[in-house]
Amino acid sequence: MISHEKLQELIEDVVLTDPAPENEPMRQYYYIKKARQYVEAERVRLGRTPTCCVVTFGCQMNARDSEKLWGVLQEAGYAPCQSEEADFLIYNTCTVRDNANQRLYGRLGYANSMKKKNPHKRVALCGCMMQEPTALEKIKKSYGFVDLIFGTHNLYRFPELLCRMFENRRTVIDIWEDTDRIVEDLPIERKYPFKSGINIMFGCNNFCSYCIVPYVRGRERSRRPEEILAEIRQLVQEGVVEIMLLGQNVNSYGKNLDPPVTFAQLLEQAEQIPGLERIRFMTSHPKDLSDELIEVMAKSRKICRHLHLPLQSGSTRILSLMNRRYTKEQYLALVEKIRARIPDISLTTDIIVGFPGETAADVEDTIDVIRKAKFDNAFTFLYSRRAGTPAAAMENQVPAREAQKNFDRVLEVVQETARKQVARMETGRAKALVEEVNGTDPTLLTGRLSNNILVHFPGDPSLIGRIVEVELTENRGFYFLGHQVVEP
Ligand code: 5AD
Ligand code: SF4
Repeated sequence: MISHEKLQELIEDVVLTDPAPENEPMRQYYYIKKARQYVEAERVRLGRTPTCCVVTFGCQMNARDSEKLWGVLQEAGYAPCQSEEADFLIYNTCTVRDNANQRLYGRLGYANSMKKKNPHKRVALCGCMMQEPTALEKIKKSYGFVDLIFGTHNLYRFPELLCRMFENRRTVIDIWEDTDRIVEDLPIERKYPFKSGINIMFGCNNFCSYCIVPYVRGRERSRRPEEILAEIRQLVQEGVVEIMLLGQNVNSYGKNLDPPVTFAQLLEQAEQIPGLERIRFMTSHPKDLSDELIEVMAKSRKICRHLHLPLQSGSTRILSLMNRRYTKEQYLALVEKIRARIPDISLTTDIIVGFPGETAADVEDTIDVIRKAKFDNAFTFLYSRRAGTPAAAMENQVPAREAQKNFDRVLEVVQETARKQVARMETGRAKALVEEVNGTDPTLLTGRLSNNILVHFPGDPSLIGRIVEVELTENRGFYFLGHQVVEP
């Protein structure tokens, strides 16, 4: 991974009277320098530094992509701001469920009204929703005020697209169907100084029948382990103590690399990096979770005691229709194996209610698995029909009222189980990464335990970013209260 200083040097060395280089990332460094001129012109015109704001919808992947957008915009000379009133506003969209799309349309209405008041304002859209043809058509037709639209595969070209936006009065649209490229070494502006997400792979090959992700994020491709490990080392040098390795299905990491590498091997190598204290990862597919990974987790001192293992449904019949490629029994056996080897692990999951053809008996199966697997938390979603996926074409879609009724039942069991799970956890000493000042009581700090549970305790904000020992004194169901242990 490139250092900030080296990046500055390379941008400085760009000669704008030369044609833009063909090779990446040099081509994008060229356009960053060019964008600086446009932003400078804007600064002179406005009499102040123009501001930018990146609004992120959706998952951790999108959050990481947004850090790249922030990075480029700041390199180009924009001042970051947290308000959508910024001079340059970009929405990084999600389309996993329809309500994400609806939310975006709402925000676009608001953006339009802001732009009417400030005609110099520029609005851009990117991310998963832009890869969906029906959504893109609607935006082109009804939201003509948008200045720039691009997708997930060409995010690395953001500097170049930014320049095209400045050079064109009409909407610049650049959407690619897919890509096999991974471009390294673009600027990144991290949200937290002490923890960071790291992409280890992009895309997904699983084609779960309800899911739009493989269509909007493309085929699975893994980054080379050397690149990932170099990025981690660099982050540690910059003060990061906790990393989150990101992929739609981290358990199939490295299968297509030459030579192949397993996810467990990657974790073992990351573990060796001095100064790195904690390793998390997201998301695991049950069908690919290997014994090797369980073993590496069990032995590790750095991998956190938390596993997010999406169940989706507890009914083998529905799982088969979902194309998940495991049965209820296989899932439960996997959970048992993990708990036997790593007794203090916290397990969380995703559940979809209302998949086509789901009956009361299927919902009972899901509830049965929740009780038996004893999830510490479960994100429960109402099935959302995504155009173009196999499930959208299935005939027996569940009526909304019935789905909602089942959803409420599942949610109740999820909450009851989660409460019991956390209540079971013992008080005592534990290590917490201090993340922020508590939102409701500013005398308290909020720290995250290895198992992802939060602890609130009195302390000085200077501790933010440090891993401290806390005495957990009170179990409040979903979180702990405690105090810092200060050695004499
Ligand atoms: N409807 C509802 N939930 C979905 N998810 C993915 N696609 C859909 C859909 N069409 C959920 C899955 C996945 C999580 C990220 O989003 O549970 O694990
Ligand atoms: Fe979607 Fe399944 Fe891929 Fe997850 S594994 S992104 S649910 S297709």
